[in-house]
Amino acid sequence: MHSHFSRTNTAVIGLQFGDEGKGQVVDRLTADHDVVVRFNGGANAGHSVWIGNERFALHQLPSGILTPGKRCHIAYGCVVEPDGLLEEIEGLRGKGIDVGANLTISARAHVVLPRHVEEDRRRGKSLGTTGRGIGPCYADKAYRDQAVRVGDLFKPGIDKGFAKWARALEPFVTEDEWPEDRRVLFEGAHAVLLDVDHGTYPFVTSSSCTGRGLPADRRIGVAKAYMSRVGEGPFPTEITGEAAERLRTLGEEYGTTTGRPRRVGWLDLVALCHAVRAAAVTEIALTGLAVLQSLGAYKVVRAYRIDGELTTRFPAQASALGKVEPVTEDLPNAEALVSLIEADVAPVRFVAVGRSREELVERGTS
Ligand code: IMP
Ligand code: MG
Repeated sequence: MHSHFSRTNTAVIGLQFGDEGKGQVVDRLTADHDVVVRFNGGANAGHSVWIGNERFALHQLPSGILTPGKRCHIAYGCVVEPDGLLEEIEGLRGKGIDVGANLTISARAHVVLPRHVEEDRRRGKSLGTTGRGIGPCYADKAYRDQAVRVGDLFKPGIDKGFAKWARALEPFVTEDEWPEDRRVLFEGAHAVLLDVDHGTYPFVTSSSCTGRGLPADRRIGVAKAYMSRVGEGPFPTEITGEAAERLRTLGEEYGTTTGRPRRVGWLDLVALCHAVRAAAVTEIALTGLAVLQSLGAYKVVRAYRIDGELTTRFPAQASALGKVEPVTEDLPNAEALVSLIEADVAPVRFVAVGRSREELVERGTS
């Protein structure tokens, strides 16, 4: 896997239910890489990146697009919704961001079609999907009879609507390859607890979110010091009522993609251990501590009670997860919380003290 060139490829993976702040981590690490690659999902993702006081909400484009001179690639494994992508590109250009030769799109990515969106809006209700056609598009990919890949848009005699997309996307479409001496940053979308295999199935998205199998030397997991979830499904450490309202307000927990208020809860170390193992992550970037500081409470869950039994294992079945009574502990301060994560889970290499690129602090490697 390693060529004779010395390079570091890094993967950044969300460890909870999405919205951990991956955008900030990717944005910060972009400087040390040449290419930023999205490898899963589509317009269901929402990555917020703050540059100064300006917020950029990215859905299909890699966050690296905001850094001049970096190449960004939408790889195989992703699903592309052309109208939305073209709109996103125009929106960035309108804000003075260059999108041109710095963007490439894999001919192997699948295309989200209007019928996928219609089907998702009908069938995805009980799961609380984002309604972006994600599940039906990945289902068609697996069926292999009706699916359309980006490369198929260029077939002669193609559908009139596809011809329009082909013309607009043509400058970007390439193979999935990059020069061997380029340092690649793999930008994960969604998160391990939404992964189609490792997440809280069936309340998950339809792609692999762990990034296992990517040629990355370094695998960083992003976790928030409290938790949030959009859509349906088990959330063992969820809180409701006034405490939830305060946490939601302080953390500005409203969906980037759908604007929905996010469900919120305490940091779940049972789930975090599961996610770290599933994604083979070796270091953590911790976000959201400032929110707990404003709240004046540092609570964590290190064990579950299920049917009266104490456990530190994360159950596979949504039905079991739905029965969890979390064992909640109070910690005195942020330092205690970081120490506990390091003792129970993995080293905390980065801590966000605010949301801009500069406010992600790298900790000593002692
Ligand atoms: P889908 O990906 O649109 O099929 O939605 C499936 C579930 O994953 C729903 O609960 C969504 O709210 C959730 N979801 C998908 N992508 C994201 C994300 O990027 N952040 C947070 N939740 C997500
Ligand atoms: Mg998001």
